[in-house]
Amino acid sequence: MTAGTPKLRVEGATKAFGENLALAPASLVLQPGEFVSLVGPSGCGKSTLFNIVSGLLAPDAGHVQLDGRDITGTAGNVGYMLQKDLLVPWRSVVDNITLGAALTRGVTKADRAQAVDFARRYGLGDFLEHYPHALSGGMRQRVALMRTLATNHDVLLLDEPFGALDSQTRLEMQQWLLQVWAETQRTVLFVTHDVDESIFLSDRVLVMSPRPGRIAAELVVDLPRPRTLELMTTPAFNDVKREIITLLHGRAAA
Ligand SMILES: Nc1ncnc2c1ncn2[C@@H]1O[C@H](COP(=O)(O)OP(=O)(O)O)[C@@H](O)[C@H]1O
Ligand SMILES: [Mg+2]
Repeated sequence: MTAGTPKLRVEGATKAFGENLALAPASLVLQPGEFVSLVGPSGCGKSTLFNIVSGLLAPDAGHVQLDGRDITGTAGNVGYMLQKDLLVPWRSVVDNITLGAALTRGVTKADRAQAVDFARRYGLGDFLEHYPHALSGGMRQRVALMRTLATNHDVLLLDEPFGALDSQTRLEMQQWLLQVWAETQRTVLFVTHDVDESIFLSDRVLVMSPRPGRIAAELVVDLPRPRTLELMTTPAFNDVKREIITLLHGRAAA
């Protein structure tokens, strides 16, 4: 990778299901280490875009590049936490984190050691041998994210990972995710329809148009890091929020 090469580039990705266009040409660029969120109405093609980036779905047109290399339609290049990311109920926390290795090449001692290390570092140290049914919703999402991290890809696609959590747990998980991101130095593309969440987490927010989705606008979130909860009630935060809401709904909320 030469200096200045983006980590990830999506150029003109398009997808139709039968007659229905789900994704209009969508283009985006992520620089190494960035945290970028995609917000947009339900059904605008966010998950379709992720499926294309991950290589699970081939676009009808356009391409995807990782470190300047074309990866269009090829899987196994990025970490992907699916919107409905299920843990395997009969595998323990550690065995869920190592699932990727188990399914591809077999779990090594190093994989297991890394899983235990992730779990201990990120709040699951007392639950290594617990099964998913014994975990809270927030903990299950931590395990799912650790599993995505354990694939050791630089780029992580996280599709509404906190969508099903109550608002208090969600806030805790957002702070936790920022810690994981800062320490592991991954590049993150994050889908949410929670505007506050997108601002709190991100360096930039990409706003998608309604179906068929394209990237309609980009906002740079020029707020200091590390982000704190106090930030969420500042005028600067509200200014960004008003801009995004205007882009999404055509006018600012009262
Ligand atoms: N496999 C599929 N077959 C047919 N239609 C699909 C399929 N996947 C998604 N769609 C349609 O494409 C549109 C975009 O879906 P999706 O990417 O899941 O949106 P979002 O994640 O933004 O809510 C929706 O109208 C959805 O019904
Ligand atoms: Mg979706």
